[in-house]
Amino acid sequence: MNWDIAFYEEIDSTNLEIRRKSIDGARQGLVVLADKQNEGKGRRGRVWESPAGENLYFSILLRPKFAPEKAPMLTILMAHTVARVLEKMFYSEMEPIQIKWPNDVIISNKKVCGILTEMNLNGCQIEDVIIGVGINVNRMTFSEELEDKATSLRLEFKEEVEREVLLSQILCEFAEQYETFVEIQDLSFVKEAYNKMLVNQNREVMVLEPSREYQAQALGINEIGKLLVKKEDGSIDTVYAGEVSVRGVYGYV
Ligand code: BTN
Repeated sequence: MNWDIAFYEEIDSTNLEIRRKSIDGARQGLVVLADKQNEGKGRRGRVWESPAGENLYFSILLRPKFAPEKAPMLTILMAHTVARVLEKMFYSEMEPIQIKWPNDVIISNKKVCGILTEMNLNGCQIEDVIIGVGINVNRMTFSEELEDKATSLRLEFKEEVEREVLLSQILCEFAEQYETFVEIQDLSFVKEAYNKMLVNQNREVMVLEPSREYQAQALGINEIGKLLVKKEDGSIDTVYAGEVSVRGVYGYV
């Protein structure tokens, strides 16, 4: 994959900008990077706080040829990529890098990275997949609302981090993993490593479906990225990220 990086001092949202460029015919491998976002988008319609000068906000454009059902696995692949890169750069036994299924990267039970993947279809075929990544890099303070749930690399590892270095490592690692994914079209090659980092593994979680919620034990993902959970009666359910969310029984993770 050859990456082309378009940098903006300020933008509404890198996901929105890359979509505009995609409509204009941009090719796979475009990266839109911004120092500040005015309308940073989080999952489930939330806002992603995006102040200038301290964090990473970027989106990548992919034009995969596979079936749309496979696209959600790319979010998991990106979470795995980010977690792996952070582990290489900041390995710490005390503060391991973890993943909250499906795609939040966590340190000390707080979120350090969020990923928003959006797909556009042309009939039954994928027109584009946009993966937006927000990483709290050098941020030192959070709003009262986020204080207990969010952290940054600088707060955790007590050092200022060069954002460009982190970005280039992530793009390099993702390109490699994406190539393998396109070949085998499932997550079997990262499943074990992902599950090792999964903060939910073997923990009690609440599975929140649109129409019901229940408590279960999270076991790990299968090769297509669904979360396997063991219910109280011992039966196993597979939970799909698009339909349900999972949260810890005692808080965020
Ligand atoms: C989440 O809610 O966990 C997902 C957050 C994703 C934020 C990133 S920042 C770069 C890209 N542009 C956006 O507007 N959102 C994503």
